[in-house]
Amino acid sequence: MNELLLEIKNKVSAALKENNYNDDVVINFCNKLELGEFQYNGMMKLSKIYGEVPRDMAQKVVNVLSKDKFFSKVEVAGPGFINIVVNNDEIIKFINKSINDVKLLVPKINPCKIIIDYGGANAAKALHVGHMRSANIGEGLNRLARIFGNEVISDVHLGDLGRQSGMLISEIKKRNPELCFFDKDYKGEYPKIDITSKMLGEYYSIASMSAKEDEKRMEEVREITSLVESGYPPYLNLWKQIVEVSSRDIKNTYLLLNTKFDLWEGEMDSIKYTDKVLEYVKDYMYPSEGAMVVDVKEEGDKLDIPPMIIINRNGATNYETRELGTLYSRMERFNPDEIWYVVDNRQSLHFIQSFRVARKCGIVNDNTKLLHLGFGTINGKDGKPFKTRDGGVMQLNDLIAMIRNEITKKVSDRVTDDLKEDTISKLTIATLKYADLVSFRSTDYIFDVEKFSSFEGKTGPYVLYTEVRIKSLLDKNNLDKYNIEIITDKELPIYLKLLEVSNVLYKSYEEKSLNYICDYLYELCSLYNKFYGECNITNETDIKLKNSWLSLSKYVYDVNKFLLDILAIDIPSRM
Ligand code: ARG
Repeated sequence: MNELLLEIKNKVSAALKENNYNDDVVINFCNKLELGEFQYNGMMKLSKIYGEVPRDMAQKVVNVLSKDKFFSKVEVAGPGFINIVVNNDEIIKFINKSINDVKLLVPKINPCKIIIDYGGANAAKALHVGHMRSANIGEGLNRLARIFGNEVISDVHLGDLGRQSGMLISEIKKRNPELCFFDKDYKGEYPKIDITSKMLGEYYSIASMSAKEDEKRMEEVREITSLVESGYPPYLNLWKQIVEVSSRDIKNTYLLLNTKFDLWEGEMDSIKYTDKVLEYVKDYMYPSEGAMVVDVKEEGDKLDIPPMIIINRNGATNYETRELGTLYSRMERFNPDEIWYVVDNRQSLHFIQSFRVARKCGIVNDNTKLLHLGFGTINGKDGKPFKTRDGGVMQLNDLIAMIRNEITKKVSDRVTDDLKEDTISKLTIATLKYADLVSFRSTDYIFDVEKFSSFEGKTGPYVLYTEVRIKSLLDKNNLDKYNIEIITDKELPIYLKLLEVSNVLYKSYEEKSLNYICDYLYELCSLYNKFYGECNITNETDIKLKNSWLSLSKYVYDVNKFLLDILAIDIPSRM
């Protein structure tokens, strides 16, 4: 809540007290401006406690509030609502206070130390659209959490162990069996291999195709995979080189999405903690169908939560074991207050199991909160998981290319050549990110390329268009000092919307979903564009009014920019 809302709340509470009523007052924004700007509707509830008629009670409170110059109108409505209009001077005071620093709008909380695990791309494999969701949501939540003053450590948690290691090494072996990595008796240093990420892609698809058809080849892939995981030096060395090549690519893709990580760690880094994990779980682990498992069922579970497999039937550890190793290492090295996992909803069982084992066995203590922030699936127009035109899995690159294509068509004759590339890239990423963040985090949504890249409606380009337009207005009408002096009815709705920023930030942070910020951006831009269309700001002759309008425009620009920065969306200079 911002100071202005807090002041309304305090004044209403005091007026209630004067009449011997008591309530934890909630002030709502009125959605119909003709009724009022704000509303208190606690009277119906209070009337049950005090046994009086709500309208009469409301009138008594209104009588007190009406004497206060802070309000320009307070009245009783309907069965006992109190509708409130704040004096414009109070709004002016409030806005002017933060006119040069909209960061002041961020509500105060008790900050803490948070690790956020997002990204989760897999080495030597292309990023798919699910990885993009993790990056977009994770980066947004990271920035949001920092704005609230938390200490945040982000970790990409690269999927750098798995079947792909076996696939690639078996393909390299087939092509170059003479390499020292395949000579059991080789004792020397391992050489640098010459491999590009393009080759990795080709090798991977060839190997996986032949492993599908040839059981012997598949057996070899499995064997190599488990040798890599158990740390067999030549394969581990070879694999690490492959991971390095692929990581460079993955990093660039994340950069394209304005996404960066403090830690570039992966599942492989957790292997060194496997013994520690086994020490913690040994008293809880028992054999089951050849594997070693830990029970995690709890009373009150609505679903059947099966035991978590710590050691596979073949003696190897797995994704779960590595999750626990990573958790152990995070607790040891950082002792965070919270760990957030921004990972697909479809992994929810994995996280329920891992969190329960970690707590039960003491890897994580009660002071650390573990949250799986799941997200939904991206579907195509047919409502089924998004596929490419030829029916293949939608890779992130395919999606970016589709959007870029659409945006290029639109921008072509609007922007001069020197700026075209910058505008197209920024609009492409804005389209992608806004579309990906505008629905509540955990819901599935349909990716409609045409709709999301439109310059009209609830889209990234629409918000950016508003920003570019305001910027050009401000450049044309240079002001030395921004200060609001007057508010007229025309722009009042914009001011009232601006009073909501703190609540929107808080709600997004509380629910860990950026859709509230996206909605708000759209609403603020719509109100601003309506005002812009109706009022000729540049030609306004009343200088006080003109300057107030320009100051308001700059405030709207700054608030939008502040929120776009949280979403990691950049603003082009022209569009
Ligand atoms: N690499 C995994 C995948 O592609 C995601 C990793 C998510 N993070 C985690 N701590 N498990 O499915």
